[in-house]
Amino acid sequence: MDITEIDAITLLREICGEQVTLHYDLYEKSHVHREQHGEGCDVHPSSPGDAPLWPLLAVALPAERFLEVGCGLGYTAALMAEAGGPGSRVDTIEADEEHADLAEQELSRRGLGDRVRVLRGEAMVLLPDLTDPYDVIFVDADWSEYPAFLPQLARLTRPGGFLVTANLFPLFEEWAQEMPYKEKVREYLELLVRDSRFHTYIIPGRWHALSLRL
Ligand SMILES: C[S@@+](CC[C@H](N)C(=O)[O-])C[C@H]1O[C@@H](n2cnc3c(N)ncnc32)[C@H](O)[C@@H]1O
Repeated sequence: MDITEIDAITLLREICGEQVTLHYDLYEKSHVHREQHGEGCDVHPSSPGDAPLWPLLAVALPAERFLEVGCGLGYTAALMAEAGGPGSRVDTIEADEEHADLAEQELSRRGLGDRVRVLRGEAMVLLPDLTDPYDVIFVDADWSEYPAFLPQLARLTRPGGFLVTANLFPLFEEWAQEMPYKEKVREYLELLVRDSRFHTYIIPGRWHALSLRL
């Protein structure tokens, strides 16, 4: 996290209040976990600045059924479950057993265990077995398989629903040019933008893709 983001988040917390502070402790715990877990751990929780997106989508669509690819310690899953309300259901995919255990503990400690189901395993193995359509899908995993995820993501997003793909910065940011899978990000985005089933907006600076399922 750079100093610009620290200032921006502080300001957003002051301006937006609970929408940005909700489960902030789990955001912080996710960073602490990554530093302690060691090399190879990629639990980078989504930015608290993105937290108001979930209640916005929940009201606008409306949305009660969420799918996340890349659970980490459950920070965004908790936000989506809060946004969807008591009747909501969040399925979140996690390949790392330790992350899945910690996420289940955190979610149940927050009274969200009955709204969130942690699906353990590799996304490419689990996605084809999911059948119900989702109102909102959030992809926040290892970039290497994003192009291969796309047919499943298109199948699982209901018409009128949203696919949100996080952190496509390896393609766009100078500082990220040495990161792996830049070409996979490009391939994914070209497929997504040209896919007639979606209408996509890539947010400059944040480098998230917001895709409306037509
Ligand atoms: C960036 S973190 C997710 C953070 C989480 N979305 C949040 O906002 O708190 C990525 C997580 O996805 C998991 N992951 C990465 N690639 C995966 C894959 N192909 N299948 C399942 N889990 C994956 C990692 O183990 C890690 O816990």
